Amino acid sequence: MTRFAGRRVLLAGGGSIGPGVGNGKAAAILYAREGAEVFVIDRNPDAAAETVSIIEAEGGRALAHTADLTRPEEAQGAVTRMLAGGGIDVLHYNLGTSVKGGVVETAPEDWTRVFDVNLNAAYHLSRAVLPAMEAEGKGALVYVSSLAGLRSGPYSYVAYEASKAALQRMAQSIARVYAEKGIRANVVLPGPIDTPHVTAIVAPDADPEELAAARARLVPMGRQGTPWEVAEVALFLASDAASFVTGVLLPVDGGMSL
Ligand SMILES: NC(=O)c1ccc[n+]([C@@H]2O[C@H](COP(=O)([O-])OP(=O)(O)OC[C@H]3O[C@@H](n4cnc5c(N)ncnc54)[C@H](O)[C@@H]3O)[C@@H](O)[C@H]2O)c1
Repeated sequence: MTRFAGRRVLLAGGGSIGPGVGNGKAAAILYAREGAEVFVIDRNPDAAAETVSIIEAEGGRALAHTADLTRPEEAQGAVTRMLAGGGIDVLHYNLGTSVKGGVVETAPEDWTRVFDVNLNAAYHLSRAVLPAMEAEGKGALVYVSSLAGLRSGPYSYVAYEASKAALQRMAQSIARVYAEKGIRANVVLPGPIDTPHVTAIVAPDADPEELAAARARLVPMGRQGTPWEVAEVALFLASDAASFVTGVLLPVDGGMSL
């Protein structure tokens, strides 16, 4: 399939936090399989390089770029470098982090860190990308949020929930303002997905098998999703197949939001 032939995709957080395949890495690989040139941005140079080497080994086209996207000048620098080589057809925003706890348990520095990664970096990148897309009169933005941006889960991680809800609202605001300019913005809301991110960030102390079983029990389909299932939905939203779709919050959750 060549749904993205000739398209250039900025993949923010296209590495993986640990061994295996996360949501960002899967999306980068699928865009490349569909013919896109993928600009893989990650603050971890090895993680970005690994994704690029997988894509190149499959005969695809990708470029690694190291940046901490919570820094406005680094987000702008990444966009400027990508624009120097052509346009940007798709911004795929995958960054996300979390800290467990309610408002009382969450330290101010953790609150700020989670908002920097989940929301502020998305703002910096969107702000850098949108003028170029507007000049072209086209573009698609896809933000990876979470079901936690809509509703409570089994425990509170309020900084995550609040920052993802704000990300969703930002995306919908962009969608409304830029609809008449040919630019679409949509949001993917994964439920529990089996990725290295979960063992590394969400529950580093848990037994991996018990954790996986407990997460699967939350889902009506009785299993966790895969990063490929999240990526497929994101690609649909970024593609011309979704040309009349903007501002949607699309759960990819095995029925968990029902
Ligand atoms: N796995 C799940 O169950 C689940 C559920 C809901 C939502 N999500 C969302 O999926 C996304 C995570 O997907 P993943 O599996 O690819 O995660 P991941 O942690 O494996 O990959 C994210 C990449 O982003 C990079 N990164 C982090 N901060 C950065 C920064 N400031 N600048 C540049 N790069 C940075 C990391 O180095 C990492 O390589 C998050 O948005 C998360 O909220 C995951």
